[in-house]
Amino acid sequence: MSSSQRQRRRVRRLALPAAMLLLVGGAVTIQSTAPAAAAETTLRAAAAKAGLFFGTASSPNRLYPILAQEFGQLTPENDMKPDRIATSSGGLQNTSGADQLVNHAQSNNMVVRGHTLVWHSQAGALQGASQSTLNTFIGNAINRWGSKIAYWDVVNESLEDNNTGRRRNQWPHTMNRDANGDGDYFDAGDTDVIRDSFIRAKQVVQAGGYSTKLCINDYDVEGLTVKGGGPNRKANALYDIVRTYRQYIDCVGFQSHFNDNPNSIISDDLQANIQRFADLGVEVHLSEVDIDDDLSNNDIGAGQAENYRKVVRACLNVAKCTGITVWGISDSESWRSSERGLLFTGGNGNYQKKSAYYAVLDELNKGRGTTTPPPTTTPPPTTPPPTTPPPTTPPPTTPPPTTPPPTTPPPTTPPPATGCTATVSLNSWTGGFVATVRVTAGSSPISGWNVQLTLPSGAAVTSVWNANRTGTSGSVQFSNVNYNGSVNAGQYTEFGFQGTGAASGLTPVCTAS
Ligand code: XIL
Repeated sequence: MSSSQRQRRRVRRLALPAAMLLLVGGAVTIQSTAPAAAAETTLRAAAAKAGLFFGTASSPNRLYPILAQEFGQLTPENDMKPDRIATSSGGLQNTSGADQLVNHAQSNNMVVRGHTLVWHSQAGALQGASQSTLNTFIGNAINRWGSKIAYWDVVNESLEDNNTGRRRNQWPHTMNRDANGDGDYFDAGDTDVIRDSFIRAKQVVQAGGYSTKLCINDYDVEGLTVKGGGPNRKANALYDIVRTYRQYIDCVGFQSHFNDNPNSIISDDLQANIQRFADLGVEVHLSEVDIDDDLSNNDIGAGQAENYRKVVRACLNVAKCTGITVWGISDSESWRSSERGLLFTGGNGNYQKKSAYYAVLDELNKGRGTTTPPPTTTPPPTTPPPTTPPPTTPPPTTPPPTTPPPTTPPPTTPPPATGCTATVSLNSWTGGFVATVRVTAGSSPISGWNVQLTLPSGAAVTSVWNANRTGTSGSVQFSNVNYNGSVNAGQYTEFGFQGTGAASGLTPVCTAS
């Protein structure tokens, strides 16, 4: 880009926030005179009311009063990374910055998200370490802070760039071995750094009796699709990992560094993707949010404040989306300062709220599920989306279960007499769709199910979760997998699939066994 182009963009940018501020100011006035004047005035309070945390990344030299006033959660931006605290044998060193952040969070009732245990980058003395050394470090780090850390990023950025859907071809993932050559690292004989690190972390949490939840975190995994409408293969690969290791993984972080990279845009199916992971039973966090304010090509939407609204709304509309963390307070102090992607300007604790701040506050104040979710076609869901806040009970202290927990609430509609019924809800975009199929048992329990449906011509299935499949187009059959065949009388389970083309008027036929 030439310097004159940059200059023109800059002029447009300068003009816009002022206009937006006026608009937002108006909205705030209207709200304060409305009966529901109980609108909260900080991000922290508004989020808490909606049943999620709103946090930020921070460092020991940025513990300004505004931090605990506006944010209910803190992620150490750099102070808990291995290059800061790990020795080459997996011991701990230099933990004073991390300790200071944890103590600050504790005295201000802020949730801490530990970041991060296993990562190819900022590995410091651990670079090239064996799994056994990584395990030693995992144990030392988790034990140092115990339940003071509510969520730990156990594995960070384990998937390849550029929407390839593969694992990284970099240490520590180069330690992976595909014993039977079937193209994945999921088999018992395989060596998998992700699995083995989570198993170790889970053991440490259980042995210590901590309430800490264990997360996997990555970027460019936010949408079901990438720019142009193709499937987000990186998100699908992450989905497979979480589904396969569900007994060890409690939470998933979508980093949410949104910009106009084709794989980093804010797509309309963000909510559907959050929902898909939530349906596995894990909590979802938008863990490192910043949104490029470059409006020059509209790749990521109409404007930063609106983009923030959209992202926050997508999380609010999914009950198990339990937290949003922005990656810093102020643009000038951001790792990507040139994108001006955060909610405040200014520096050194003297921060000014941007339009995006007011948009986020307003959206949080609306609470969960108050706006229409992405378009769905007939038949509508038989139960309203859950609105209860996330469970706060600590994870079990018994050994991890061997099957994923099938926990879906009973439907509110009367169950069919016998056998099973199935309903489909669709989330469509130009050239593709995601279908969520709900299988409801009749008045007797079932131990297996089969769903047949006929796709319109031109439509084809590209991926499936929580079901086996026969066929990709025309008449397609889905059957239960080993952990979701048994459904109690009147209860339901769900599976999903993604496809290309257009799918409408699907009429599923359910047969129980
Ligand atoms: C970044 C920090 O913000 C920078 O200060 C540091 O120089 C590099 O790392 N994904 C992550 C974060 O998981 O740890 C990164 O943080 C940003 C991308």
